[in-house]
Amino acid sequence: MFYETDKPHGLPRDPFKSCVVPRPIGWVTSLDATGRVNLAPFSFFNALASDPPIVVLGVGGMQPHGVKDTLGNCRATGEFVVNMATWDLREAMNLTSAGVPAEVDEMALAGLTPVPSRLVRPPRVAESPIHLECRVHMIVDLPCDDPRSYNAAIFGLVVGVHIDDAVLTADGLVDVLAIRPLARLGYMDYTSIESVFSMRRPSAAEALAKVR
Ligand SMILES: Cc1cc2nc3c(=O)[nH]c(=O)nc-3n(C[C@H](O)[C@H](O)[C@H](O)COP(=O)(O)O)c2cc1C
Repeated sequence: MFYETDKPHGLPRDPFKSCVVPRPIGWVTSLDATGRVNLAPFSFFNALASDPPIVVLGVGGMQPHGVKDTLGNCRATGEFVVNMATWDLREAMNLTSAGVPAEVDEMALAGLTPVPSRLVRPPRVAESPIHLECRVHMIVDLPCDDPRSYNAAIFGLVVGVHIDDAVLTADGLVDVLAIRPLARLGYMDYTSIESVFSMRRPSAAEALAKVR
């Protein structure tokens, strides 16, 4: 099948989010201008560059009180922390996605423990094994089909990285299978990483030798 995105696709559910899978989940801590803590998951999330490390969050839709708190807080304070969502933290992560009023601290709501960051003010989720401390680099307004809604991309410069020593192997590698990072599929579906394989990148000479 083929469909143009501004025309009906004819399927029972919108397939788009199933066509870009799996998406990592950026579980984002931020503070409002008065210092209130906010925590919410975002699967329109990824790393875009590594030198320096840069991440992006896609924030869409509205809360009853206005734009999503994460977007408002990033605009107001210019800082956020990405906590890695894991299999063990799946229920807590899901709880923090509820559209609660801005004054509710979702970290407390989900029974999670705040620990201070080193370089930015929003706290980290102690139960998560990896945290990226970020400064907002840029917020870009995106097209939005619904005039009552809003889409934006938040680009963050990663200024500090915490990795729990317990998830580092003896060789100093991040042990992804021990962490079981959570990722989003389409619909209400998720996956977690349970297998890993490696491939060495071919040199140009090796690749060209295949066609000669
Ligand atoms: C796994 C998961 C992924 C989500 N991804 C996004 C996303 O990429 N963008 C978005 O705007 N909302 C996303 N949401 C919904 C937000 O988490 C939800 O709207 C939340 O209430 C926003 O909180 P805030 O207003 O405190 O920022 C996601 C929810 C879940 C459970």
